[in-house]
Amino acid sequence: MTTSAGELCPDDCYAVMGNPIAHSQSPRIHRLFARQTGQSLSYKALLVERDGFAQAVAAFLVAGGKGLNVTIPFKQEAFEIADELSPRAQRAAAVNTLLIHDDGTLYGDNTDGAGLVRDLTRNLKLTLGGKRILLLGAGGAARGVLAPLLEQNPSRLLIANRTVERAKQLADSFSDLAEVEGCGFDALSGRSFDIVINATAAGLQGQVPALPEGVIGPHSCCYDMMYGSEPTAFMRYARQRGAQSTFDGLGMLVEQAAESFLIWRGVLPNTGPVIEALRKVTS
Ligand code: ATR
Repeated sequence: MTTSAGELCPDDCYAVMGNPIAHSQSPRIHRLFARQTGQSLSYKALLVERDGFAQAVAAFLVAGGKGLNVTIPFKQEAFEIADELSPRAQRAAAVNTLLIHDDGTLYGDNTDGAGLVRDLTRNLKLTLGGKRILLLGAGGAARGVLAPLLEQNPSRLLIANRTVERAKQLADSFSDLAEVEGCGFDALSGRSFDIVINATAAGLQGQVPALPEGVIGPHSCCYDMMYGSEPTAFMRYARQRGAQSTFDGLGMLVEQAAESFLIWRGVLPNTGPVIEALRKVTS
């Protein structure tokens, strides 16, 4: 259900703003977090016109809202309107979490990368340190997770993208943090990786990145940042190539939400039961 940004908030009020927003799982996740941690709050999904983001945030603020999640296509705009930014939001050049201070100023953070790393390391028990990681895609989704991935000290992080130049530029802009390279898909021929993360939007059209044969095989753990009720196109592709394991991004979604909840409420929810509850609904 979507409601208006200016509706007065009886409880401490939070929302997710996006376009489209109807299928967002965030209200369900945050209500489960609130119940689990005994917090009294409301959380709604707000459909915002593509040219109306700043206005919608202003209306939400006047109505007494305490915080927002921001999703496609507003993460860059949220970055621009925030009064103060966390270092990881600055790195990502995108904001998915806004905390509204009592004086009306906006603190912007980005919890996507932390959510991915927590899902990989805590839920899926993968070690990233010393591993060869391939990140597919060089758009906003890839940029948002790069710094937290590099903090895990992989032995190599390669960004491969359909448009080679974007991969190179993205790698360059993170090269002060660690050794990171960018290339096109063809250049992956003959190379293998321990962990392959799909951050492209190819799955939205049911497509997969055009990887050379051999890049994914029995040695690879494959993670798709997308999720759905069925295994994603990338997961199916990886399974056909004998990947050791394949995962979707539902855990990342719940983990990034938990990190937002922590910023707003000062308490980190237990994500395991929430991931389980969502799996039941989506399967
Ligand atoms: P997002 O914020 O979701 O990352 P984006 O910034 O538009 O969205 O980036 C989309 C990413 O998915 C890009 O890396 C894009 O590749 P290009 O830079 O070459 O456009 C990638 N992408 C989209 N469709 C794809 C496809 N069919 N095959 C491979 N990559 C694709």
